[in-house]
This record gives sequence, C-alpha cells and structure tokens, in this order.
Amino acid sequence: MKNNFDLIAPVYDGLAKVVFGRNLKKIQTHFLPLIPENANVLIIGGGTGWIINELFNTGFKGRLTYVETSEKMISLSKKNCVKDSVNFIHGDESVLPLGQKYDVIITNFFLDVFSEPRLDQVMTTLSEKLDKNGIWICSDFQNTGRFSHQLLLWLMFRFFKITSKLESKSLLNFDLKFKKISHSRSENFTLMNGLIFSSVYSIEQ
Ligand SMILES: C[S@@+](CC[C@H](N)C(=O)[O-])C[C@H]1O[C@@H](n2cnc3c(N)ncnc32)[C@H](O)[C@@H]1O
Repeated sequence: MKNNFDLIAPVYDGLAKVVFGRNLKKIQTHFLPLIPENANVLIIGGGTGWIINELFNTGFKGRLTYVETSEKMISLSKKNCVKDSVNFIHGDESVLPLGQKYDVIITNFFLDVFSEPRLDQVMTTLSEKLDKNGIWICSDFQNTGRFSHQLLLWLMFRFFKITSKLESKSLLNFDLKFKKISHSRSENFTLMNGLIFSSVYSIEQ
C-alpha cells in the first residue's frame, strides 16, 4: 500500500523535531486561534494527533472529526488525546459521511503525499465537504528555488519513499491547485525562509 506511515509513526514527531526544530509545530498552530469556538472541524492526515490538544488549548469547544489512514498514527492520536469527544475515523477521505459539511478543514503536511492526479481528486473531494462559508487551513512545504531547500526536499521524498512507499515524487504547487478548485487565500504565514507555509483558504463566492 502507498503512503503507509505505520512503520515511521512511533518516531515521526521525534524525527520532525530533529530536522525542523519547533518550526513544524509553530507553522501548524499559527492559525488555530482563527477557528470559531463552536465550529465543526475536520482534520485529515493529522499524524500522531498532537494538534488535537493544541486545538482544544485555544478554547475550542466544537466538534472534531479526525481522519487517518495509518492504524499506528490513529492509535497514537487516541492515546495522546485529552478529550473523549473526538470522532476518530480510521480511513481516507472517501469514508467521510455523505452530505456532511465542515466549517473548518485542516490539512497539514498531508497534500504533499499525493501524486498529481490523486491530489486533484483528494482536493476536489475535500472541497465538496467544506461549508460555503468555511475555511481550509493548509500547512505544507513550498518550492523556494533555494538549493539547500531543494536538497532537503529531495532527501525527504527519498526517505519517505523508502519508509512509507510515498506516492508523491516531488513537491507540487498547492496554491495553484487551490486556485484550480476556486479557493482563494486570505492569510499566509511562512517560516524557514519560505520553505514551510500555512495558509487560510475559502471558497470564492
Ligand atoms: C506527512 S504525514 C503528516 C502528519 C501530520 N499532519 C504532521 O504534520 O505531523 C501525512 C499523514 O497523512 C496520512 N494519510 C496519508 N494519506 C491519507 C489519506 N488519504 N487520508 C487520511 N490520511 C492519510 C498518513 O498516514 C500520515 O499520517
């Protein structure tokens, strides 16, 4: 199976910290305070689930659905989670209930696992799940043209190809993909000289 993060799950957060320090946490938590207190939130591909507690630490009191394909990642998420109200779903975007819309969708370092045709499919599916007044918070890597960044990205794609059978071979331009599905960016924040970004998108009215 492609994109299988089970093997890497127990060491994923530790490795991320060694390579990126606190930057991956900073970027993923930056826009959490924008989430309305009673929103219906979907986090997909959230990994070990540390972000769940960060979300509740902002004072969030709404509904949270957490979708993950990795059995190991989801069991770590359940173990680390301080709330018992989270709806954990082991599966991918196709298991999301028909007709259900979310006020907020969060995809952090998730879109980068897909090859182009699959990314288009996943983004279209998620877009259909976003309420017309909702927001989609996306954090990920972006190409900056810097040699050191290209080298790091190449090494990471190789590493995840070996450990997780990563489907994606290179980094795609997610902002263009959001434009293609008629979502416009209202906020943008970057760290590490632009290598990582977090953006807030909404459906063009
Ligand atoms: C690169 S990791 C990022 C994890 C986390 N967001 C973070 O930044 O720490 C990608 C995660 O997406 C999950 N994943 C991959 N494809 C998925 C899919 N179609 N639906 C749900 N989760 C998926 C993987 O199991 C993995 O935990």
